[in-house]
Amino acid sequence: MDAMRRALAGCVLALCLGTTGAEAADPAALAEARGATLRLQQELQGALKAAMAEGGPAGAVEACHLQALPLTESLSEELGAEIGRTALRLRNPANAPDAWEAAQLHRFEERLAAGEPAADLEAMAEGPGGLRYMKAIPMQEACAACHGPDVAPGLRAKIEALYPQDRATGFSPGTLRGAFTLTLHRP
Ligand code: HEC
Repeated sequence: MDAMRRALAGCVLALCLGTTGAEAADPAALAEARGATLRLQQELQGALKAAMAEGGPAGAVEACHLQALPLTESLSEELGAEIGRTALRLRNPANAPDAWEAAQLHRFEERLAAGEPAADLEAMAEGPGGLRYMKAIPMQEACAACHGPDVAPGLRAKIEALYPQDRATGFSPGTLRGAFTLTLHRP
């Protein structure tokens, strides 16, 4: 009976860790994960802004296509952790979520629907490969040119040429565009 109660308690605990946010996580690891995510966000935003200023949305799609993944890869190397972006509806299939990430993305959608602000959605838990962290990326006005419901036809064609399987349009502000995702490998 005791063993069963312990097993049940373990299950409930695991469920909680898997489904609540990041409050229960080790503060140092959480700070590290948040810092890494912020860096990637700033680097991507900087690259996007520069490309938009230089070549408008069409030039920026090209720049994103060329730069986004190499940027996440070099940051992963520098940090000694795997960092990237993912989503349930993707532009680049290389960003596809694994099962753990997909479960967290669904959980983020549920938490958003339950009234949590999109900008607060994050999760940290042990998962496949190490300590895993995710932070939601809310859709914003500035993303609409390339991810919104009314992508200009010329730009649409450019996106489809580079990403024939694109599913990352039709988002409205306040919904979830995707998430940053990080795996901290433990020694
Ligand atoms: C100029 C067009 C453009 C704008 C503006 C833009 N994106 Fe993207 N986005 C892209 C392209 C192109 C990719 C695919 C990059 C790649 O090849 O990895 C992408 C990929 C992504 C991904 C990775 C997941 C996936 O679907 O492959 C996320 C998340 C994302 N964008 C969020 C945003 C957010 C949030 C904004 C606004 C702050 C934004 N984007 C603005 C063009 C754009």
